[in-house]
Formats: sequence, structure tokens, C-alpha cells
Amino acid sequence: MTYGDDFQRLSRYSRHSLEGRSLDWENKPPLYKKYPGAELFRLSEPDREGGAPLNGILQKRRSVRNYNSAVASEETLSQILWATQGITLSTDYHQFRASPSAGGLFPVETYCAINKVEGFKPGIYHYQVPYHALALVKEGAFGLDLARAALGQKMLRDADFNLVWTAMIERSKWKYEQRAYRYIYLDAGHIAQNAALAAVSCGLGSCQVGAFFDEEVNRVIDADGEQEFAIYMSSFGKPL
Ligand SMILES: Cc1cc2nc3c(=O)[nH]c(=O)nc-3n(C[C@H](O)[C@H](O)[C@H](O)COP(=O)(O)O)c2cc1C
Repeated sequence: MTYGDDFQRLSRYSRHSLEGRSLDWENKPPLYKKYPGAELFRLSEPDREGGAPLNGILQKRRSVRNYNSAVASEETLSQILWATQGITLSTDYHQFRASPSAGGLFPVETYCAINKVEGFKPGIYHYQVPYHALALVKEGAFGLDLARAALGQKMLRDADFNLVWTAMIERSKWKYEQRAYRYIYLDAGHIAQNAALAAVSCGLGSCQVGAFFDEEVNRVIDADGEQEFAIYMSSFGKPL
């Protein structure tokens, strides 16, 4: 099979391929996913100026796969979520986030699978970017399901919380068509790295997870696997 090679070749830009393209503004997909009626938990205001100096954080960051039994604080969760996609600039026409995104289309959604965080029941939550809040998608401890879905990687079971990133692919395809599949992964990489660095600043460790059975992760977060599908995960906890 060569579909990866084919994709890379077929999704190349050439001067010719960009000719005559225009955007259908009337059918631009919405920027934010909503959960009408879901219980909403406002997160505390993140620290937008302080934190540990960046160079020291870069030096310290390692993938951490063994966590102790400590419970993460709400402030830590808030800080890490803000680092993923929190709004850092609002203008009349656009809201910019902590991570860059191709075309400012922000196709990546952040879910938080909470195992143990102060003040939260275990469950799957969706990060509501405009409100810096979590919407409860469903209650329950899904760490073990995520660990199983991630080829048995136990750190997802032991983590204080796991972040799962999905792509709402139409948001990016609207502009980039098939090339969107390149950009969603680049976007997710930026987001996950921001989260990993914020975790170090908060005294937590994290590990990025690309190895998982896609459909099993989609089921955990209730993504349909077509319009929206999981592309990346990270686990977070206090290093053992
Ligand atoms: C795209 C990607 C996917 C990864 N998937 C996994 C994974 O499924 N399981 C795991 O234990 N580590 C995973 N890692 C972590 C790498 O193994 C780790 O970053 C690498 O060994 C370098 O170590 P460091 O992160 O401590 O610098 C992944 C990292 C990236 C960037």
C-alpha cells in the first residue's frame, strides 16, 4: 500500500494547483464546537505572564510515563488548557489562541479525560475555548479505556488527566481541501507541545501518545470518526 506516499505527492502545492480558487464565505464552518445543555465548569483565570523561565522548561521537558498518586489542582488544569488553545488576543474580527493554526481556522478540539483533578468528577470534558471552561460530555473514569485504546499504555490509566485532540476536518477543508490533512497534524503538534511545556512549568510531567486504535478513542469521546476524529493524545501527572 502506498496511500501515504500518494497523499504526500497529491497534496503538494504547485503554482498551477492554486489557480482560480476562491472561498465560499457563506458556508464557512463554525469555529467553535458547542455542547448545548451540558454542565459548564468555568476554569480559574490562568497566569498569563509568570511561570518558570522558558529555557529551563525546554531543558527539563521529558516524556514522563510513571505518575504518583497525587491529585492535580484545578489551577494546574486551567493553566495547561489555556496553554493549548486559550484565547490570547481578541480583535474586532478574530480571536487568536496560544497555539498557531493554519489559516486561523482552528480545526482541532481539545477534550480532557479527567481521572483525578481537585473539584472535578471523573469524566470526559470538552474545552470550551471562548469561555475558558469545561463542558461535561459524560461522567465516568475513562483512563482505563484510553489506556486500552492506546495499545495498553498504562500511563493513561494512571494519569491525573489525559488530553485528547480531535480534528473537525471540514473547518480546514473549507479552505485547504485535501491539504487540510497536513495542517491538522501540524496544528495538533503545536498544541501538544504548548501543553507539555506548561505541564513542566506547573511541576507535572506529560507524555505524547500517537499510538492508539482510532475508533476506540473516538468512542470514548463520542466523536463520529468522520466529521470529527481523534488525532493525538497526551497524559499528565506528577512524575513518580
Ligand atoms: C507524534 C508522537 C507520538 C508519540 N507517541 C508515543 C506513544 O504512543 N507512547 C509513548 O510512550 N511515547 C510516545 N511519544 C513520545 C516519544 O517516544 C518521545 O518524545 C521520544 O522518545 C523522545 O523523548 P522525550 O520526549 O523525553 O524527549 C510520542 C511522541 C510524538 C512526538
